[in-house]
Amino acid sequence: MSNTNRRFLLRERPTGRIEPSTFELSEEPVPEIGDGEALLRMEYISLDPTNRMWINETPTYLPPVAIGEVMRAVGIGRVDASRQEGYPEGALVQGLLGWQEYAVVSDAMPGFVMPEAEGIPVSTYLGVLGQNGLTAYVGMHDIGAPKEGETVVVSAAAGAVGSVAAQIAKIMGARVVGIAGGPEKCAWLTGELGLDAAVDYKAPDFRAQLAAATPDGIDVDFENVGGEIMDAVFARLNVHSRVALCGLISGYNAEEPPPGPRAFGNLLIQRTKLQGYIVLDHFHRIGEVSEILAGWMAEGRLHNRETVVEGFEQLPTAINMLFDGANTGKLVVRL
Ligand SMILES: NC(=O)c1ccc[n+]([C@@H]2O[C@H](COP(=O)([O-])OP(=O)(O)OC[C@H]3O[C@@H](n4cnc5c(N)ncnc54)[C@H](OP(=O)(O)O)[C@@H]3O)[C@@H](O)[C@H]2O)c1
Repeated sequence: MSNTNRRFLLRERPTGRIEPSTFELSEEPVPEIGDGEALLRMEYISLDPTNRMWINETPTYLPPVAIGEVMRAVGIGRVDASRQEGYPEGALVQGLLGWQEYAVVSDAMPGFVMPEAEGIPVSTYLGVLGQNGLTAYVGMHDIGAPKEGETVVVSAAAGAVGSVAAQIAKIMGARVVGIAGGPEKCAWLTGELGLDAAVDYKAPDFRAQLAAATPDGIDVDFENVGGEIMDAVFARLNVHSRVALCGLISGYNAEEPPPGPRAFGNLLIQRTKLQGYIVLDHFHRIGEVSEILAGWMAEGRLHNRETVVEGFEQLPTAINMLFDGANTGKLVVRL
């Protein structure tokens, strides 16, 4: 066991994209634990678009990460040493553990001990069987709530949340159209994931492709992106449509807030119901929902893909993969 704990600390707030100067690498001794604490050796760190918002000065649903503080992130570590009954040595623990090689959990900074089922990779609990799956389920099942035969559109459909949300809509009997960047991702959506159509938003005729893929209009928009893509979807919403406002990733690196959607007035004309939501409010349902999703995976109805980056030192560059579309499915860093 190394006696150094490498950590990435927030050095400065980026104005646009995350740059090498955004974080500084700090090397500190591995913390000594006291009574009531357990030491985790980190195994996986989840990279999420929301991480970018946490380092802005403006608070979101969590306070901003402070300058000099370890970068906040969800991760999974294994208990290396324990002086706290709830965290037995060898157990896997998930929590807001940060960009560091070792983390300490306690009553003040808790994590939760995770199940370890044979045949289920640990990283799955950061994605489809973790917060991404719960986000997809709440947004699609509860908010979008497509009825059989309705048309559902999912943006960032080849990503962690979008790929699960789109498949849930298929399982619910909807006609599902995914929006993603590039022919390869679109082929995955209509191939392995079984969506009815996929639209490449990078194609010059994106709006025409979307119209062709949604001849009966759109009943549910699972919105992950915002900007031009959301505008094109809003223009095609049907009467009594629903928008599950999950994310607006196209604006997260923007220096100025993006302009409002031109087609916003269509929400009035169509009596659309739009609901924003944050998965943290729904964490009490994680067990119930991950059981449902694991069941669909076991039945071969829900497919999962992950993009795994090797090496702690890759964290500051790997996070930009989310904004470059370089990930398919869940993006994690393995330590
Ligand atoms: N409400 C909540 O509680 C909650 C929880 C988790 C996530 N979210 C939101 O859900 C969305 C997806 O998150 P995720 O974790 O599943 O990430 P992800 O979809 O796995 O990764 C982000 C994807 O977004 C697409 N993208 C990035 N910039 C884009 C742009 N300017 N225009 C169009 N597409 C762009 C890229 O795919 P392409 O190659 O297709 O461009 C990229 O792969 C995000 O908006 C996130 O903030 C919300």
